[in-house]
Amino acid sequence: MPSTILVGAQWGDEGKGKIIDVLTEDMDCVVRSQGGNNAGHTILLGSEKYVLHLMPSGILRKGVTCVIGNGVVLDAPGLVKELRGLADRGVKVGKNFWLSDCAHLVLPHHRGFDALRESKSNPIGTTRRGIGPTYADKASRNGIRAGALKDPKALAARIRARLAEANEIFKYHKQPLVDVDACVKEHLACAKILAPFVTNTAVLLAKIMAAGKSVLFEGAQGTYLDIDHGTYPYVTSSNTTAGGACTGSGVPPTAISRTIGVMKAYTTRVGEGPFITEDKVIGDLLHGMGREFGATTGRERRCGWFDSVLTRYAQLVNGFATVAITNMDGLDTLDKIRVCTAYKLDGKKLDYPPTDLENFARCEPVYKSLPGWKFDTSGVRSFKKLPVRAQDYLKAIADLTQAKIEIVSVGPKREETFFC
Ligand code: GDP
Ligand code: IMO
Ligand code: MG
Repeated sequence: MPSTILVGAQWGDEGKGKIIDVLTEDMDCVVRSQGGNNAGHTILLGSEKYVLHLMPSGILRKGVTCVIGNGVVLDAPGLVKELRGLADRGVKVGKNFWLSDCAHLVLPHHRGFDALRESKSNPIGTTRRGIGPTYADKASRNGIRAGALKDPKALAARIRARLAEANEIFKYHKQPLVDVDACVKEHLACAKILAPFVTNTAVLLAKIMAAGKSVLFEGAQGTYLDIDHGTYPYVTSSNTTAGGACTGSGVPPTAISRTIGVMKAYTTRVGEGPFITEDKVIGDLLHGMGREFGATTGRERRCGWFDSVLTRYAQLVNGFATVAITNMDGLDTLDKIRVCTAYKLDGKKLDYPPTDLENFARCEPVYKSLPGWKFDTSGVRSFKKLPVRAQDYLKAIADLTQAKIEIVSVGPKREETFFC
């Protein structure tokens, strides 16, 4: 059975949660393999809105096993809160959920370091969820893994040791210290709830795949927030691109049968960093419709025209053959729609973004203007029923991306979607 990676082709918030929810109708298992509760994946079921931060977006489908893999950084109190929120709304989480013993725990000092870093010059505009410092501790082999949730004594001792070191640093910077006893108490309470879910998820996934089940890897963030391939340093601290699905879950690349890219019909970004096609016209339009506010921090998302230089490179890095295009209804009212086909830098035309941030920031967009379709697409349920101009727009952005259109989304709800 197929194993599919779903990856964001822009700067995150492409509508991955919604597409995952649609695709899980035919899936047995959904896996998160990187990021943490910096993610905010929105699913609309009727009038019920769910925003998932750590829990895979398959959790709303009965019979789907959800897995948080080793590459995720886990805010244990955050996950417990999410579990309670789901239970309050009648979503049962039991034997359909597993958590890797190798996922690293996000602790209060990580959030403190995140905030401290953001208060200095050149902030990244992080979600302040402690994501970067947790991955830094992991890389410097100072982290605490979720396996410790099964051993309360070891968990308490490790938290105390790590927080003692961290508090020395906070003291030096004249910052408030972390309350060690409160943190230990909170994590011991979380451990009681989470320990039954903790396991070796690489073995679990191997068994699921060997049984012929279909697995969907749910990307968090997007290609340009990737620590290696994104607009460094204005990125997150994990590999958000397709390769991260394997390293972050213990599933070999040979087990992956396909990758789907998700992209909005325009571009958005939250946080700092250059954004070549950013434009107030489209920002004002979308914000005026009450759209494009962050699902995690509530910040207004920056908006711009579709940038095919970004999506083309995303195709190259992730290897997706097909794309899911979301939010096309956001463009319904426009007379003319701009699409960035290439960049210009020092008189030269570029098909791919420069990897150096200063050069990237100096690029100018080369635009093609396409006529708008001026039609409410939210009720359309097939490609053929779209106005010809809307079809042409979708074909143009897919061609420029060098991928085929697989899914089109014309609204936030499950049913506001069609396959091509
Ligand atoms: P994710 O992080 O990639 O899962 O995306 P977010 O949930 O952060 O942001 C996507 C936003 O767009 C959410 O508010 C979704 O409900 C919404 N959305 C997704 N697809 C569509 C669509 O086709 N049309 C409209 N109007 N909204 C959409
Ligand atoms: P989903 O999964 C959009 C951005 C932050 C900031 C940068 C670094 O919902 O698409 P971090 O807290 O990760 O250290 O912040 O990354 N960012 C996201 N932007 N969608 C996300 O996730 C994001 N997760 C992080 O705004 O610019
Ligand atoms: Mg989001």
